[in-house]
Amino acid sequence: MQIEPMTMAHIKDVMRIEAQSFPTTWPSDAFFNELQTNKLAHYFIAKIDDEIIGYGGCWVIMEDAHVTTIAVLPEYRGKGYGERILLTLIDEAITRGGAWLTLEVREGNISAQQLYRKYGFTTVAVRKQYYSDNNENALVMWAGNLKSELYRNRLQALRAQLVA
Ligand SMILES: CC(C)(COP(=O)(O)OP(=O)(O)OC[C@H]1O[C@@H](n2cnc3c(N)ncnc32)[C@H](O)[C@@H]1OP(=O)(O)O)[C@@H](O)C(=O)NCCC(=O)NCCS
Repeated sequence: MQIEPMTMAHIKDVMRIEAQSFPTTWPSDAFFNELQTNKLAHYFIAKIDDEIIGYGGCWVIMEDAHVTTIAVLPEYRGKGYGERILLTLIDEAITRGGAWLTLEVREGNISAQQLYRKYGFTTVAVRKQYYSDNNENALVMWAGNLKSELYRNRLQALRAQLVA
């Protein structure tokens, strides 16, 4: 699997994965705007041969970073690809000076929460009925300090495990 920066040419395939991954999808112009006008946004796609099988994005604003989205095509889940995309986002945040990384996740999305916990995220707040499609609560999770030796060691161990 290869990971590379998302470009406009990838959006059609990204939208296809988006539709299979989320009950409420981003419109394609949201991706266009992120890529074209948001200087704080960093998006990546994962591909196997020529097929785009996943993507993820984050914003990095000084020391604060935010995972905005992450998804893998259903038939490719459970094979470590989502983890590699998340690792890319964490690396990107660290490279750009991020120390604190946050995200929101549906309360019922246990597999995503497990992935985030593996990478040191903990729940710090609950946003009641955050998702308008089904009024589901959002867990607000944070990981940090990404710059600390402790976190770097954790990341190194997880990276080694993933490569192995
Ligand atoms: C969340 C998502 C990106 C994970 O991608 P993935 O490629 O399936 O995950 P991986 O195979 O890399 O798994 C990495 C870790 O995630 C967790 N995980 C993944 N699938 C899981 C499952 N079915 N049950 C429990 N934990 C799971 C585990 O911690 C796993 O690590 P482990 O293998 O050491 O147990 C994927 O499930 C997805 O696209 N879901 C739909 C979109 C979505 O919910 N995005 C998150 C929005 S907040």
